Amino acid sequence: MKLWLKFNLVFLVAFVIGLSAIGMISNEMLQRNAREEVLHTAGIIMQGAMSIRSYTIDEIRPLLSVQIKRNFLPQTVPAYAATNNIARLRKMYPDYSYKEATLNPTNPASRATEWETGIVEHFRNHGDKQELIGEHESPTGKNLYIARPIKIKKESCLTCHGKISDAPESMLARYGESNGFGWKMHEVVGSQIVSVPMEVALKRANKTLTTFLVSTGSVLLAIIILLNILLYRIVVRPVKKMSSIAHDVSMGKMDMPEFELKGKDEVASLSQSFNRMRRSLVNAMRLIDE
Ligand code: HEC
Repeated sequence: MKLWLKFNLVFLVAFVIGLSAIGMISNEMLQRNAREEVLHTAGIIMQGAMSIRSYTIDEIRPLLSVQIKRNFLPQTVPAYAATNNIARLRKMYPDYSYKEATLNPTNPASRATEWETGIVEHFRNHGDKQELIGEHESPTGKNLYIARPIKIKKESCLTCHGKISDAPESMLARYGESNGFGWKMHEVVGSQIVSVPMEVALKRANKTLTTFLVSTGSVLLAIIILLNILLYRIVVRPVKKMSSIAHDVSMGKMDMPEFELKGKDEVASLSQSFNRMRRSLVNAMRLIDE
């Protein structure tokens, strides 16, 4: 087997093993990072929803407290404000969805589905739990979610969600009396849930991995090409030359020009020793001939 082939086989094995090892290690790391990044964005969206809720309670509702008696304005309802604001935000982040999943909602669109009910029940059973992060299998694939409990902490909430008789007439006219009532103080009635398809995190991780592997592969390939050029110039070419001269000398062609490499490396010193040996051989032959 030729020298360059031997070297290149070793390079190839090192290249494949090295690149797969890098791929495997970084894949896991990138997926973890992408998951964290997606959850971080989900956390910001969740925080946004919380801020809109408190803004609506503190700033909007007091301004419209008179008008609401005549004509119900859902814009004063924190849940409505948060859901509608996040719906607008979703134009920028279409992968993320937000819901105030509630067991007994005023607006039927907010009714918790089966898996959401599981989350609400979890918060109801673990009163101290403030956040839940998890994965959920849906017909369209795996989803990542962040959930926070919706707990009734203010008496004022019960005006509209407590007894039907306490609720504003204008609200009853719009939403009816069949649901969204009977909530209690300190009760967990639902959960804010921000969810995002797992695919978003995986796609992000794969994209980074591909870029990373292509660039690492290219650098390794460039190194291999460089090593090949060096191998050819420093070892293969001079050794080939010397071997062809040795061949000719052994066949009796003593008049071949000398080939001597300048320098102090092993191949140069081989060429110098070879020339000395050749000169001794020529002298010895001459002595025999005399
Ligand atoms: C002025 C009446 C009113 C008050 C006060 C009020 N809500 Fe509501 N709430 C509503 C209405 C109406 C909806 C339905 C809005 C919509 O169309 O999505 C709603 C919706 C909700 C929802 C979403 C699920 C559902 O029932 O549709 C949650 C959760 C909620 N409210 C919690 C609260 C909490 C907590 C408070 C106290 C901080 C509160 N609400 C105060 C009227 C009120």
